[in-house]
Amino acid sequence: MKRLEVVSNSAAQTRRLGSRLGELAAPGDIVLLVGKLGAGKTCFTQGMAKGLGIDEYTASPSFVLVREYQGRLPLYHIDLYRLDRLEEVVDLGLDDYLYGKGVSVVEWADRGLNALPEEHLLIKIEHLAATKRRLTFEPDGIRYVNMVSKLKSIRRRSKK
Ligand SMILES: Nc1ncnc2c1ncn2[C@@H]1O[C@H](COP(=O)(O)OP(=O)(O)O)[C@@H](O)[C@H]1O
Ligand SMILES: [Mg+2]
Repeated sequence: MKRLEVVSNSAAQTRRLGSRLGELAAPGDIVLLVGKLGAGKTCFTQGMAKGLGIDEYTASPSFVLVREYQGRLPLYHIDLYRLDRLEEVVDLGLDDYLYGKGVSVVEWADRGLNALPEEHLLIKIEHLAATKRRLTFEPDGIRYVNMVSKLKSIRRRSKK
């Protein structure tokens, strides 16, 4: 099974998961986050920033479309929250980021899915209870299938 499902019981656990993915990330990686407001997309991104060696991650207001951070690799944090039309996503000129040397993490990726790279790691976050979330990792493309299987084995090892 290529997919991975994880139930997170705290924001700290979601950040840790993000951090592990950040450690595995390679130049040009695309991570698409889908989930309602308050699901934990930004929380997961914070973890990824940490895993990429970025110390001064600050979540600024959601009207900022792209934020760039410098770590082991650059992190491009893209937030499509305010967009409602696909054409707007195309107009943004995100290609320099998406096909650049950094790692792109896209919140509200469902608002621009058809304009985003076909090969990607999609992560769906569902709100189950107050501090409980289900994260479903769905890789598309061999690079992301490998990434998820590495994440699985890291998790297996850390449980022992
Ligand atoms: N298991 C969990 N995983 C992620 N966030 C959680 C969890 N439990 C509680 N939270 C809280 O839910 C909120 C998620 O907010 P945020 O990451 O900004 O969501 P989004 O970016 O999806 O709108 C934060 O206040 C966080 O502390
Ligand atoms: Mg957010």
